[in-house]
This record gives sequence, C-alpha cells and structure tokens, in this order.
Amino acid sequence: MMSVSLTNKNILLGIGGGIAAYKSADLVRRLKERGCDVRVVMSQSAMEFITPLTLQALSGHPVASSLLDPAAEAAMGHIELARWADLVIIAPATANLLARLTAGMADELITTACLATEAPIALCPAMNQQMYRNAATQANLACLAERGYTLWGPANGSQACGEIGPGRMLEPLDIAIMAEQFFSQSATPAVAAPNPTVAAPNDDTSAKPLLGQAVLITAGPTREAIDPVRYISNHSSGKMGFALATAAAQLGAAVTLVSGPVNLPTPEGVTRIDVESAQEMLDAVLEHVDKKHIFIGCAAVADYRVQAPASSKIKKATEEMQLALVRNPDILATVAHLPHRPFTVGFAAETHDVEAYARDKLKRKNLDMIAANDVSVAGLGFNADTNALRVFWPQGNQEFPATDKLTLARQLLSLIVKEKQKT
Ligand code: C5P
Repeated sequence: MMSVSLTNKNILLGIGGGIAAYKSADLVRRLKERGCDVRVVMSQSAMEFITPLTLQALSGHPVASSLLDPAAEAAMGHIELARWADLVIIAPATANLLARLTAGMADELITTACLATEAPIALCPAMNQQMYRNAATQANLACLAERGYTLWGPANGSQACGEIGPGRMLEPLDIAIMAEQFFSQSATPAVAAPNPTVAAPNDDTSAKPLLGQAVLITAGPTREAIDPVRYISNHSSGKMGFALATAAAQLGAAVTLVSGPVNLPTPEGVTRIDVESAQEMLDAVLEHVDKKHIFIGCAAVADYRVQAPASSKIKKATEEMQLALVRNPDILATVAHLPHRPFTVGFAAETHDVEAYARDKLKRKNLDMIAANDVSVAGLGFNADTNALRVFWPQGNQEFPATDKLTLARQLLSLIVKEKQKT
C-alpha cells in the first residue's frame, strides 16, 4: 500500500537494545512509504542487534548514536535533532530504556533526545512478559504516561524467549498506522495530511473478525441538568469508548457510537449520535439496539439526575440549598435484559476489590462480559491515554496490562469475538 498520509512530517526513530530491533528496519520503510522523513538514533546496545548501516540505507540519513561524536554533532547536533522531530517514536522501548527515561537520564543520545525534544514521544515497549509485568516496569510506564508520553502496545503473544504474554513490540505496520492516526487526530489545517484516511492494520478479511457484525457502543459522561446553565457530570473523557469504536470499525464492524458530551473527533467510518443526559442516552440506545450483535456500555452514566430541574437559572438567594436526586435508569442492565439482546459487555471503574465488584456486576446486570479498571492507579483509566483492564466473564477471566487505549480496545474486541463464538 502506498499512501502519503505522513507527508512533510519529520519522525525521529529511537531504537533501543532488544531483539525486536530487527523489526525497526521494516518500521523505517513503513514510515517512509507514508511520505515522512525518518532519522534514526540508536542506543549503544541496539547496535548489538542491528547495524547502523542498514538503517542508514533505509532512512537515507546517517544514523546517530553518540553524544560525543564531533562529526555527527557537526552534521546535526543532538539539540537540532530533537527540535527537528514532529514526533519521536521509541521502538523497541526496552525495560532498561523505560527506566532511564523515567529517571530523566541523559546518558546517551537516545535518552538525551527524549529530554531535549518538545515533540510528542510514543513508546513501543518490547520485552519479556515477566519483565513487562514487573511492578517497576509498570510503575515506570504509568509515570511516563502521566508525563505525557504515549504508549503504543505492547501486544500479547509468543515471544523471542519462548514465553507467551504481553511484551511483544507492535508490528511495524501497526506502528506506522498509529503514527498516521496520531497526526490525523492532532491535525491542524496547516499540517493536515492530504490523504488522512486511516487504514486498518491489515486489509485482508482475516484481519477483520468483526466483518458483518453490528456493534453499539456508549461512551463519555452524561450531563444531568440542574437548571438551564448548570449540570451534574463526571470526569469521563470518552477516550476508551472512542478507542473501542475506532478499533471495532477497523476490524470490520458497522459501528454506532452513542456519546455523551466529549471533546473527541468522530472515528473514521463510525455513526455517531450525540446525547446529553442518561435518559437521552437510554432512548438513543433503545432506538438503535435492534439487530445489533454486540453492545458495549463504556459510558460513565450519572447514577442520579435532579428530580425537578429548574426551567430558569436558580438564583443564589439562600445560604444553603438542597437538590433532590433520583436514580437514573441503568442502560447496560436494560439492554442486558432485552429478550433478543446482543452480546452485552459492561465496564466497571473500581478503586478496590476489583474482581469481587466486577463479578457482582456481571451477575447482577446479566452481562456476558465485564471489563474492570482500577481507577486508583495514577495515569490509568479516567481521562488518561492509557489503561489496564481485568476482564471477567462467567467461565473465565483475562488481564490486559497497561497500554494505550486503542491497543487495549483491539485486545478486548478480539476476546469478545472469541467468547461470543462460544455462545
Ligand atoms: O454500576 P456501575 O456504574 O459501576 O456500572 C458500570 C457499567 O454500567 C458501565 O458499563 C456503564 O456504562 C453502565 N451503566 C449504565 N447505566 C447506568 C449506570 C452504569 O449503562 N445508569
């Protein structure tokens, strides 16, 4: 596929010292075929896995690796390189490199460039699954995410060391697509890509397991009016629901997204219905749920609404005021109790006893599956770009460690496809 969706973009690719470094050569090609200029920085250990010559030939530029090389500094110094980039991608981002970035080290060119750049930095973690699960790595990732680094991946699967689990670097094509999506989502008119279509990770039908499936998703918060100018709401950004809609559409589904008030662009190919209150969300869901195969309730629906919203602005005439609240309908449980219901998936944001509360909701709301996140972990969940999920269904459970919400959405949808086939 030839596209020019990264035209005029400068991408600095930082390669860490892991076995996945061999894939970085292909990544350079995948990025360049999308029209961008790529310069490569390698860590000292990366050069044990792949030669700078390979990357120089593919990128068309000398490869920088040392802070102390007068010739390289004279050509394009480390500060210039950091300023030149519109986006920095670190792939593979090894456990060691993540730790050094968390500590803010400038011990070699690759870490220094990350400190010196104002460009967004996307990390593509790649390591043994146990190293990935280690609390130190997870804490580093959460800290980096909180500081504004973007996480792309890792994927689950078989690893070079023979183990199976999370820690595989995303495939080069997927990373190139993430870069396209990154610019198309943050595009301003001046830098908008001439051909901003976002490709699915693969165009063959085997990569589209949701082909022929109709999926309904709720996302974002709801707003419950107090009077014409005030409302009760919550901090949901809608990012997880929108990531699910994006991923479901890429996997071939016909997607309808019922969204509360959020500040997000409509994903490519998705039908979006905007609502404000829980009652409006329920009405929209009931209107569109017919013939849907999958329903995912990702919205943070307000539990209560004001019993009698004022028709004109309430004046501050008294020192105290009381609002009478009444329970909102449970949209997810309503769908889950319909006679011909779709495969119904809920979300649960918990701060403790995650499994017990999630399993209770699974049963009480009559769900097929529930995805729980621990919102007490800094940098994850509400309003963040990353999340981690523990998914439960009557016969099993699976953990998806912290990663960006789009990767997580793909992982959750694959699990939904697998479990739905069994019903
Ligand atoms: O009960 P709780 O709010 O923790 O449940 C969360 C799940 O239920 C989410 O999937 C959410 O979208 C859904 N929900 C709903 N309607 C409500 C409350 C929650 O659809 N009124």
